[in-house]
Amino acid sequence: MPALSFSLEKTDNLSVARAGTITTDHGQIQTPIFMPVGTIGSVKAVPQQLLKEQVKAQIILGNTYHLYLRPGMETIEAAGGLHRFMNWDKPILTDSGGFQVFSLAAARKIKEEGVTFQSHIDGSKHLFTPEKVMDIERTIGADIMMAFDECPPANSIYKYALDSMNLTHRWLDRCFKHFNNTPDKWGHTQNLFPIVQGAVYHDLRKASCDYISSKNATGNAIGGLSVGEPEPVMYEICQLCCENLPQNKPRYLMGVGTPWNILECIALGVDMFDCVMPTRNGRNAMLFTTKGVINIDNKKWEKDFSPIDEGLDCEWSHYYNKAYVRHLFKSSELLGLTIASVQNLAFYLWLVTEARRHILLGDFLSWKNEMVPVLKTRL
Ligand code: GUN
Repeated sequence: MPALSFSLEKTDNLSVARAGTITTDHGQIQTPIFMPVGTIGSVKAVPQQLLKEQVKAQIILGNTYHLYLRPGMETIEAAGGLHRFMNWDKPILTDSGGFQVFSLAAARKIKEEGVTFQSHIDGSKHLFTPEKVMDIERTIGADIMMAFDECPPANSIYKYALDSMNLTHRWLDRCFKHFNNTPDKWGHTQNLFPIVQGAVYHDLRKASCDYISSKNATGNAIGGLSVGEPEPVMYEICQLCCENLPQNKPRYLMGVGTPWNILECIALGVDMFDCVMPTRNGRNAMLFTTKGVINIDNKKWEKDFSPIDEGLDCEWSHYYNKAYVRHLFKSSELLGLTIASVQNLAFYLWLVTEARRHILLGDFLSWKNEMVPVLKTRL
């Protein structure tokens, strides 16, 4: 089977926003795209059927760190990979654990060989090496496997960021070597995406882009952003990375972001995004809509029986009204979590689909400039 391919259909007239198509063995992805996060093989509170029919997700994320700890590789192996385990036949991307080990695990120690850490679930001790992470991602069967990296904090001093970037590059060599020496596990082609690091330092980011590009991977990712740096710095680094990564390969900005972050970064040339924000904030009563942001806990919505969001082409957004969803949240009723998550994910997918439509029309930049203030409106 062929590796993932990317065809660029159009670049916007006044920005470098792109519309393209990624082809994988599990189907096509129209870019720019947002990928719902399904950390442990479940997009929290959203059944697979709703992901397809309501959210219109084209690809979802799984997480190496979480799936390795629970249910564990024996179960995933016995199931025949994550696609079969969760019954999802569209593409899956797995993050490598390079981020979660640093944000969740206890007592972690970084060495040349890899990272030792204690599980956040039961305190058990583990070692992640680039080779081991490649084996885990092969077993999960992700169409897109992320390289094992270190994501340094935004406030890292230059020397730390430099050493960390060089370690990420040496780990990348080991990832590719092991990836190339191991077969696709479940009959479909798996791809390995490297990750640019370098914190907020321009010379490091440029060097990392050059190194990552030399791997000639089928796609490239930008990591280490939206980790506490100011928004203008994130955009500046994102732009620098887009300018220094291959034009003919998809660019994936990891863990970003708000709806307006996504539009701004599409304008800079990013093709793929993921973020827990639509699901996590949804479970905390924050609804993203085509008219702005709603805090559904607010008394203001108590007797507002209008649909959640008439601007979306999503049945659930029309079917349920605001007062009812508020009541569900006030009563800690589980259905509220599902409705809010479906609404927010459907909104994120609508946003990137509209972005794509406007890129193809050639008026993306003016549409984006009109949309950003709407997206930031608190209703
Ligand atoms: N998710 C968000 N940022 C990052 C990053 O820098 N590395 C990895 N592996 N995952 C991420």
